Amino acid sequence: MVLPSGLEIPKEVLDAEIKSFFDSAPPLKNSDDVSQKLEEFVKKNSLLSGTGGARRVVCVTSGGTTVPLEQRCVRYIDNFSSGHRGAASTKYFLKAGYAVIYLHRRGTCQPYCRSLPDDPLLECLEIVDESNIQVRSAITKTHVAVAEDLLLKLPFTTIFEYLQMLQMVAFTIKSIGPHAMFYLTAAVSDFYVPWKSMAEHKIQSGSGPLDMRLVQVPKMLLVLRKDWAPMAFCISFKLETDSKILLEKADMALRKYKMHMVVANELLSRKEEVVVVTSNEKISVRQNKSLGVDDVESALIELLVERHTVYVENSDNLTGQQ
Ligand code: PMT
Repeated sequence: MVLPSGLEIPKEVLDAEIKSFFDSAPPLKNSDDVSQKLEEFVKKNSLLSGTGGARRVVCVTSGGTTVPLEQRCVRYIDNFSSGHRGAASTKYFLKAGYAVIYLHRRGTCQPYCRSLPDDPLLECLEIVDESNIQVRSAITKTHVAVAEDLLLKLPFTTIFEYLQMLQMVAFTIKSIGPHAMFYLTAAVSDFYVPWKSMAEHKIQSGSGPLDMRLVQVPKMLLVLRKDWAPMAFCISFKLETDSKILLEKADMALRKYKMHMVVANELLSRKEEVVVVTSNEKISVRQNKSLGVDDVESALIELLVERHTVYVENSDNLTGQQ
C-alpha cells in the first residue's frame, strides 16, 4: 500500500533521530537493576516446566511521560493519562495467564487498585464500614502476582526513562519471539528538550516571555516492530478528541508503524467504547454492564488474547515448516 506523501521518514533519518535521542538522554539511574529484573522475569516465565512451553509475556505501558524543562527539574510538561486503561488491562492479562511487565508512570493507577493513586499506604487499606478499615484483598492479589513472578512493575516519570526502559524490555523479550506482546497505552510526549540544551538550574522569571525550542520525539513504534523485537505482537493506541478523524488516524498508524492492531479511542467515551483496527477490520468493543462487568478492558483483552493465540500458532507453523 502506498502511503500518502509526507508520511514516510527515510530509515536513515529516523535512525539518526533515535540515536540522537538516546545519546542525549541522561543515563537511567538504576539501569543494571532494571536489566537484571527483566532478565530474571523473562527467564522464569519462559522456562516453565510441565506446561508445554513458555508463558506469554506482555509489556503494558501506562500513564503519561513528562518532559523536563530544567535538568534540576522544577518545571515540566506533562501528558494526560490516569493509567486506568493500563491498570485494568493488566488485571485481565494476568487473569488470562500472561506474565505482565507493567511499565507505568510513577503515582498512577495500579492493577487491582485502579481508583487509588500509587500510594503504598492508601493502597493497603479498604473501608468496610464506618468503623472498620481492613487490608484490601486486592493488595494480596498484587503481592501474590509479584511474588509469583507474574507481575513486574517498572516505574518511569520522564520521556527519557520511558523510552530507555521500553528499549530494554524489547531487547529482553525479543528472546521469546511471538510469545511476547506489546500493549502500548502510555501517552508518550511528542516534543522534548534535549538534555544538552536544557537549562541546568531553575529558569528565572522576570525577563519577559520564555522562548524555548522543543525537538520532536522520534516515534519508536516502527523501530520497535522492525528492529528491537521483530516477532512480538504489537498493539498501539490512538487517542483523539475529534471522533471524525479517529479511525482514519488509527488506520494510518497501523500501516505506518506496521502494528498488528491499533486500538482507537476518543477522549470522552474511552471508558465505554474502543474500536480495534486491523488491516481488514474495525471491531467495536463496548463495556457490557449487563454482564456485571464495569470496564471495557474485559472484552478488549479477551479479543486481543484470541488474536495473539492465532498469531503464535501461525508463527509456530511457519517455524515448523522451515
Ligand atoms: O490512562 P487513561 O486515563 O485510562 O487513558 C488511556 C489513554 C487514553 C491514555 C489510552 O487509551 C491511549 O489512547 N493511549 C495513547 C495516547 C497517545 O499518546 O496517543 P498518540 O497518538 O500520541 O500515540 C500513539 C501511539 O504511539 C501510542 O501507542 C504511543 O505509545 C506511541 N508513541 C507516541 C509518541 C511517541 N513519541 N512515541 C510513541 O511510541
